[in-house]
Amino acid sequence: MTDNATAQPASFRIPADQLHAYVKAIWEQAGSTPREAELVADHLVAANLTGHDSHGVGMIPRYVASLADAQLQLNLHAEVVKDAGAVLTVEGGKGFGQVVAFEAMEQGIGRAKRLGICAVGLRGAHHIGRIGHWAEQCARAGLVSFHFVNVAGDPLVAPFGGADRRIGTNPFCAAYPRPGKPPLVLDFATSTVAYGKMRVAYNQGKHAPPGALIDHEGFPTLEPKVMHEPPFGSLTPFGGHKGFGLAAMCEIFGGALSGGFTTHADTLGTTNAIINCMLSVIIDPAAFDAPDAQAEADAFIAWVKASPLAAGTERIYEPGEPERVTRAQREAEGIPVDPATWTQIREAALAVGMSDEEAARWSALLR
Ligand SMILES: NC(=O)c1ccc[n+]([C@@H]2O[C@H](COP(=O)([O-])OP(=O)(O)OC[C@H]3O[C@@H](n4cnc5c(N)ncnc54)[C@H](O)[C@@H]3O)[C@@H](O)[C@H]2O)c1
Repeated sequence: MTDNATAQPASFRIPADQLHAYVKAIWEQAGSTPREAELVADHLVAANLTGHDSHGVGMIPRYVASLADAQLQLNLHAEVVKDAGAVLTVEGGKGFGQVVAFEAMEQGIGRAKRLGICAVGLRGAHHIGRIGHWAEQCARAGLVSFHFVNVAGDPLVAPFGGADRRIGTNPFCAAYPRPGKPPLVLDFATSTVAYGKMRVAYNQGKHAPPGALIDHEGFPTLEPKVMHEPPFGSLTPFGGHKGFGLAAMCEIFGGALSGGFTTHADTLGTTNAIINCMLSVIIDPAAFDAPDAQAEADAFIAWVKASPLAAGTERIYEPGEPERVTRAQREAEGIPVDPATWTQIREAALAVGMSDEEAARWSALLR
C-alpha cells in the first residue's frame, strides 16, 4: 500500500471513441440491442470523460456480475405506472439504469415543457450511474432539475455518530441551464467520497483521504480495503450531521416517495445488483415571472469567482466546471484506465461470450 503522494500507478490512455466502441461491443455481445448498448456506452464513457472514473467503464464487471445473478434485465424499458399529470411514477424493473433513467427523463422533460414542472419518481432502476448525466439531459432541454437518489438496500455509509454501514452513498444533484453557456451542475455522493472512488483507490494501491473511512470498530482509517475485504468498515457521510441529513432525505424522497424501497433490515441486497430510486423535479424556468433570472445567476457566479484566492488554491470553480475541464483534457489526451480495471473489463467481456481473439483486438487499443 502506498500513499496518494507517492503512488505511481501505470495507467493507459484510451481515446474516448475507441473506449465507447469497446463498451458497445461488450453489451451487444451480452444481448443488448444496439440502441441500449449505445446508451450504456454513452453514459459510462461520459462519466470517465468528466473525471468520475468511479462511475465509468470500471462498472462493467459489476454489471456483468449482476446480469449473471439474473438481476440486471437487458432490453427493458421504463414504464409509467401512474400518470398524475405533473407527477409521474416510473417503474425501472431492474432495467439498465442508462436506459430507464434516460427514458424517465424524456417523459419528465416533455411534461415539464407542457406544464411548467414535473416530478418523476423512478423506482427499481438498475444502477443509474453518474446523476449529473440526467441533470445534463434536462439542462440540454433548457430545464432546471434536482434529483434525490437512494442506493436501495446497499448500505455503505455510517449514520452521523454511528459505527456501521446503514445508508447508501445516496447522491444529490441539481442543475441550472444557461443559454449560450454550459449549465451549472452540482452532483455528488452524500458520502465523504464516492464508493467507486474507493474501488479505484483499492485497485491503484492508494490511500483514502483522511476522514473518509472508518473501520469495523468505527475507528478512522485510510485503508480502502475496509470497503473490499472483511472485516468491513464504512464510508462516512460528508459534512457531519448535514450530509447525513441530506442522505436521509435522498433515501426517503428517492426510495419511499417513488414507491420503491429504502434501506433497512428487510431490504438488504444479497446480489451484485445496484438498485437506484430517484425523485427528479424538473422545472421550466420560463414558467416563473423572472425575466432577470439568467442575469442574476450570471452576476452571482461572477461575484463568487472574483473572490481573492485562498492560499494553495489556483482557481475558483463554478459547479460543473471541474468536470468540463477534465472532459476537454480527456477528449484531447484520451481516458486513463488502470491495468487492474482494464483486466477486470476484459474478464467481463469474456464472461458475456466475447471471444479471446476479439478481446485481444480490443486490448490493442492501449497506447
Ligand atoms: N448512482 C449511484 O448510486 C451513485 C451513488 C453515489 C455517487 N454517484 C455519482 O458519483 C459521482 C461522484 O460523486 P462524488 O461525491 O465523488 O463527487 P465529487 O466529490 O467529485 O463532487 C462533484 C461535485 O462537486 C463539484 N466540484 C468538485 N470540485 C470542485 C471545486 N474544487 N470547486 C467547486 N466545485 C467543485 C463538481 O462540479 C460536482 O458538482 C457523482 O456523479 C454521483 O452522481 C452515483
